[in-house]
Amino acid sequence: MLKFIVISDLHIVPRGRLSRGIDTADRLARAIDHVNTRHADAAFCVFAGDLVDDGDRPSYERLAGKLAHLELPFHLTLGNHDNRPVFLEAFGPSLAAASGCVDSVIDAGCIRVIVLDSLGDTTDEGVLTPEQLDWLRARLSEAAGRGVIVVLHHSICPLGVPTDAICLADREPFLAALRAHGDVRQVISGHVHMSTSGVCGGIPFTTISGNTYSIYPQLHGPMDTVPRLEGPGQIGVVLAGPDGVVVHQENFLDHHAVQPAEIHAWDPDTA
Ligand SMILES: [Fe+2]
Repeated sequence: MLKFIVISDLHIVPRGRLSRGIDTADRLARAIDHVNTRHADAAFCVFAGDLVDDGDRPSYERLAGKLAHLELPFHLTLGNHDNRPVFLEAFGPSLAAASGCVDSVIDAGCIRVIVLDSLGDTTDEGVLTPEQLDWLRARLSEAAGRGVIVVLHHSICPLGVPTDAICLADREPFLAALRAHGDVRQVISGHVHMSTSGVCGGIPFTTISGNTYSIYPQLHGPMDTVPRLEGPGQIGVVLAGPDGVVVHQENFLDHHAVQPAEIHAWDPDTA
């Protein structure tokens, strides 16, 4: 049985600042303490993008300091709040795959975990470049006969909520590659700050709420009417074995108080 952890939407900001009213660095420290205490038997941790709020070097350096306390091996990738060149300056160019993006692969027994960087250069939508899709197809081909789990920042499926406008764009080539493999067991994302699960184009998916505020599951109305909650702080605990895959959406922090609406003035250009 493979056990690993997914943490998304860290939204780290420079020291002395809050991210939309939340001390996200403190929250990440709590998440890491929770993982070290409760999940020391996990094989590794994947940080699934929106590592920082504004793609700035001080935030990435602060993140690196927090990650030093994690007692598990870890893998990083990027979301729409990240900046790839600044990230690679801070963490080292070796984290870029041949695709040019922060993609990686982890083999653990009968399971291959593929981590994809869905940061687009000019959009908050999720983007996988042609080079990444070629890289993905090659990694899937190598894993013929093994189960595959994919982790990326952006949700791959519209969820019936206003943020569907910024989920993974042009997803059909991605889904076709996964279907061609024949045994992709889960796609795990953050991004939407909501806990959901479903099937998209024949591929099962899960989204986790993540490290910062969560979005109230309000399915209608404009984005500026949707309440945001201060909690939970949530990680994904993935159990993968010969019989299947389970993603536990585990809260390390509750606190479901509604935040003041003005914290979340909705601007699609800066979402
Ligand atoms: Fe986020």
